[in-house]
Amino acid sequence: MELTHFTFDVEDGVAIVLLDRAGEPMNTIGPAIFDDFTAVIDRIENDPTIKAVVIGSAKKGNFLAGADIRFFETLTDPDEGAAVIRELHALFVRIEALHAVHDKPVVMAIDGACLGGGLELALTGSMRIATDGKKTQLGQPEVQLGILPAGGGTQRLPKIIGIAAALDMILTGRSIRPYKAAKIGLVDEVVPSEMLYDIAVERATASIGNLGESRGAAVKGFLAPSHLQSLAVEQNPMGRRVLFKKAEEAMLAKTKGLYPAPQRALEAVKIGVEQGNAAGYEAEATFFGELVTSPESRALRGVFFASQMMKYSTGISGSAEPKKVSKVGVLGGGLMGAGIATVSALKAGTTVRVKEVDDASAGRALAHMSKELSKQVDRRKLTEFEAEQIANRVTATTEWTGFQNADLIIEAVFESLDLKRSLLADAEAATSDGTVFASNTSSLPISEIAADAARPEAVLGMHYFSPVEKMPLLEIVVTDKTADWATVTAVEFGKRQGKTVIVVKDGPGFYTTRILVPYLNEAFFLLSDGATIEAIDGAMERWGFPVGPLLLTDEVGIDVAAHISKIMLDAFGERMAGPEMAQGLLDDDRQGRKNRRGFYTYDDQGKRGEVDESVYQALGLGPRRVLDESEIHGRIALAMINEAARCLEEEILQSPLDGDMGAVMGLGFPPFRGGPFWWIDQVGADGIVARLDALAARHGERFEPAGILREYAESEKKFR
Ligand code: NAI
Repeated sequence: MELTHFTFDVEDGVAIVLLDRAGEPMNTIGPAIFDDFTAVIDRIENDPTIKAVVIGSAKKGNFLAGADIRFFETLTDPDEGAAVIRELHALFVRIEALHAVHDKPVVMAIDGACLGGGLELALTGSMRIATDGKKTQLGQPEVQLGILPAGGGTQRLPKIIGIAAALDMILTGRSIRPYKAAKIGLVDEVVPSEMLYDIAVERATASIGNLGESRGAAVKGFLAPSHLQSLAVEQNPMGRRVLFKKAEEAMLAKTKGLYPAPQRALEAVKIGVEQGNAAGYEAEATFFGELVTSPESRALRGVFFASQMMKYSTGISGSAEPKKVSKVGVLGGGLMGAGIATVSALKAGTTVRVKEVDDASAGRALAHMSKELSKQVDRRKLTEFEAEQIANRVTATTEWTGFQNADLIIEAVFESLDLKRSLLADAEAATSDGTVFASNTSSLPISEIAADAARPEAVLGMHYFSPVEKMPLLEIVVTDKTADWATVTAVEFGKRQGKTVIVVKDGPGFYTTRILVPYLNEAFFLLSDGATIEAIDGAMERWGFPVGPLLLTDEVGIDVAAHISKIMLDAFGERMAGPEMAQGLLDDDRQGRKNRRGFYTYDDQGKRGEVDESVYQALGLGPRRVLDESEIHGRIALAMINEAARCLEEEILQSPLDGDMGAVMGLGFPPFRGGPFWWIDQVGADGIVARLDALAARHGERFEPAGILREYAESEKKFR
């Protein structure tokens, strides 16, 4: 038997089959390995000396990461997609039958990513053993790519862990760690990585003829009374109906009906439960064909591919060696600085020295980090010991001591040009020639901060987003004086912090803040045109943003938004002018969530309530009226998209791909629309220009389409 993608050995009656996809760093599943898989199953079925099977991976720390997504791009016809799924079903049914029909138990030996099609393969086994390795995780993340688990996942998972637990995994796409998997009955046993195959073979051997008794010990949680109780609920039709209804409501609250994949995944589970496996599998195949060719899935895959590509991008066109960063200095340990210090120590593994104005502030920065580390310990992502080691790498001070050997200084003090300039001068004096100085300013041009720098080649912007621990984007801002070595050093370091990094050219607001300001301004214009706060925020949420623009203003801080708006107005003039509203809000002592007064009401703990109706009066706004929802999201979204196009035209952006990733990862631009440029391509540049022209005729120059949009409309070119 000639195999390209598997190794196959038989030892004492146990076949050990290891997936090892040729020429790839990771195991993925797709038609390319179907022939090999068939040959493996033929051999096991027909070889009487094989009594049991262990299926695992020859790639360390990677069981099977999921479907081969590149293959999806070749599918244009829903029927073709469905046909591939039927082939996969046939294969998986045969693996399942190795035990049920041929009496040869199959033990799945899982180390590393066991996701999507990987978990679906594992579900066909008689037993699953997972390692406790750091990389081991199990999940069905398909909905994140706009498709559904179609390799039997919607059918087998509910049978193994119960409907409610299965829906939770399938509809959210969340993956789980091995101990949690054992607790919910998804794996039978968790073992140390080094012992995986010894134990798997032992269990396989012991299973021959008596599988039931040899199931691993870690099913205690699964047999706990509370779990059995919820399974009992699922046994009765009434209980199930309530369960599905609740799951659907929770899903729609999140997706707002904009993402078809979770909807279809839920349907497939339901069909299987109510009508049996055959109907369930058929639903998976049909829905897969429909979803994989949908614009939503294409856009989500576009975002996924882009984030993969960006892992390899250096951010510069030539080549330069990054400097190895092992010591980081953080100036200002407030909201942003404390977060930056945390991810530097935690993810990038550096030592960190934080400088603050007084002991109390320094203490707060360290306390922030401790809290984050405790969360990681609670979630079992870190051991107590690891958390302690990380915490020991971070120190805080009010002096300039201990910065001499820093490889990188990240400044995150108040947004004031004078303050930032003076800190740069102090930092240059306290550090050495090879130290990179980065500012986390959200709007001030880096060239202005660096105007008097002694080493301007080592100065750049590292613009993080709040909360730093969660937000995936890092926008690196380079001036025409920034040296390539400094840029690649920052890019490399940002990746080590776990960030998706875009490199943009310097200018007021760089890219992300620059496109955010017209977006927020337009929300204010709509407010003065009579729209209600609910209508404005609701329209943008229903268009796909995680929060509406006015709620976002409350979150960012009305004072901060006003400050940034002013900087942008000074830089770009009339086009960036919003209605005179921010001052009115500030005069009425409204700063947003931080002082519990903004567009919304807040309780003493800062928990948000309803819209604060007194805002209208405070701003002297007249009676509210109903505006068409499409006018609201059209105006707000186009204001942002038009500015994004300008950033490309002025080469602030290196590419449309960067622009899309910056907007999706940094500002919550709806991922299923793929980003501003992806969306322009989707609608057609001519359509966008026509809408902007119409808006400019009614509302003035601020909607004048960017030159590059007209150019693309005329030549019918695409951005991506
Ligand atoms: P913050 O007010 O929470 O923190 C600023 C910290 O800097 C304070 O703890 C303060 O004590 C400290 N500080 C002031 N002068 C200092 C000095 N001379 N030496 C050392 N420390 C000093 O402010 P936040 O929100 O962390 O913002 C910091 C910077 O990050 C600003 O430039 C802001 O524009 C930028 N930024 C903020 C974002 C946000 O969402 N809050 C997002 C992205 C960037």
